[in-house]
Amino acid sequence: MTDEWFKNAVIYELNIRGFKDSSRDGTGDIRGLISKLDYLDNLGIDCIWLLPMYPSPGLDDGYDISDYYSINPDYGTLEDFKELIFESHKRGIRVIGELVLNHTSDRHPWFIEARSDPSSMYHDYYVWSDTYNKYADARIIFSDTEISNWSWCDKAEKYYWHRFFHSQPDLNFENRDVRDEMKRVFRFWFDLGLDGFRVDAVPYLFEREGTDCENLPETHDYIRELRKRIDEEYPGRILLAEANQWPEDLIKYFGSGDEFHMAFNFPLMPRIFMAFRNESSSPIKDILKRIPPIPGNCQWATFLRNHDELTLEMCTDEERDCMYMAYAEDKRMQLNKGIRRRLNPLLNNNRKKIELAYAMLFTLPGTPVIYYGDEIGMGDNIYLGDRNGVRTPMQWDENRNAGFSECKPSMLYSPVIIDPEYNYNAINVEAQINNQSSLLNFIRLFIHKRKEHPVFGNGDIRFIGVNNEKILSFTRENNGEKALGVFNLSSKAEAARLELQDYSGLTPVELLGGTAFPEIPADEKYIITLPASSFFVFILK
Ligand code: GLC
Repeated sequence: MTDEWFKNAVIYELNIRGFKDSSRDGTGDIRGLISKLDYLDNLGIDCIWLLPMYPSPGLDDGYDISDYYSINPDYGTLEDFKELIFESHKRGIRVIGELVLNHTSDRHPWFIEARSDPSSMYHDYYVWSDTYNKYADARIIFSDTEISNWSWCDKAEKYYWHRFFHSQPDLNFENRDVRDEMKRVFRFWFDLGLDGFRVDAVPYLFEREGTDCENLPETHDYIRELRKRIDEEYPGRILLAEANQWPEDLIKYFGSGDEFHMAFNFPLMPRIFMAFRNESSSPIKDILKRIPPIPGNCQWATFLRNHDELTLEMCTDEERDCMYMAYAEDKRMQLNKGIRRRLNPLLNNNRKKIELAYAMLFTLPGTPVIYYGDEIGMGDNIYLGDRNGVRTPMQWDENRNAGFSECKPSMLYSPVIIDPEYNYNAINVEAQINNQSSLLNFIRLFIHKRKEHPVFGNGDIRFIGVNNEKILSFTRENNGEKALGVFNLSSKAEAARLELQDYSGLTPVELLGGTAFPEIPADEKYIITLPASSFFVFILK
């Protein structure tokens, strides 16, 4: 297990609450998750990303933390957590958690003391003002629920600053004690064996008048400090940035290889969906050409969906309108600047398109991140509030509560999906494990094949000239290993001539089935035909 393990990994994102309930109380827990580690091991993933596991009033699904040093009692104990780490590591699976630096819950003891006693040291842990006019250029992120980034506090008789829900006051990173406190938090969990953190809401740590209060140099200084500690004391542990920004600002979070190890590729994600909608390779090619190369010790995290809305913040107004038209015709599917649906419903449950999307996820530069339930094609419930429609219980089998819990159905933290197309009777792990042609087995096969070829984690990308705009083609190359991907974004069968002369003499061997295709000729283009919404991934031998 090298320090750069994250470059060749496949990450699986899950919320303990929604995965498996072992205690029959209707809420998932750590013991439940431990009982499903063999499933994850079999799927072939290398790392679990846990959504917040801390005590929390739960007004933002745990991102409103009220104690950074223990486990949400609904999920179990610190002892359970240590066992989870132990059992995961035993299987070669790493575990990363959430580091929510930017804000706490308003029920965190720091805030409770801060608001009731202006002379307490905790008062300055937060950002206060007598007016709501400061930092007027900062956008409102939860624009469907919040009207200002300032909220009035009756007790303190001042306004406090919050970039998210008003129940999540922002910490004051100007205060050295806050910065040190957060270093203690990451030490605490690293000492328990955690392998890294997805760092939440990174761009917003500092505020400065006259700016949009995002990506300030002070934020980068702080991240560099954290990174230095990791390199010195916890080599091999990683920091993964949630920085939903345009490419120019986003890549700065890698620094010169001395800030984040990884960052989510937010600009790429919506453009995969645009490429489907427009039946064109351009959105993907254009954005990847706009993203500068990253330092050699860093890696992108690529994803199709996660626990949030499919964010359209890094889109132009025109692109956003197109996306809403294509993917969120019902207003209920829209939230803030995004779309709150799961992958299968977004792609109309079109199996070919879904496989095509995964094929791109698994071969484009970066480490793929899979959202729990998407590997079996779970549906969503747009009638649940906020982002809860994509956070329903994992569907394990056709038994009561989808095998998620043995509790009374009315005790479930969220209803299971029962609408016909996605009913847990049909869409569940057990049914798909036993079916060789299930989505689950497709994804499992792809993960295992991908693992045999480090080129997918490490290789450079080069776009291949194609005479057909609807076909995306690129090669990946690393240490003499070469891979070729050809993806048909059209909903009709297409033919294409690929400019592969630089690879003449090589034989494309199809990744999933292992069959050899005709050798690449020296002086002609390589002709390939693809059925609707289909792809080929080859290793060039
Ligand atoms: C991140 C999380 C999101 C949360 C927000 C505020 O964007 O992904 O779920 O609501 O931070 O903590």
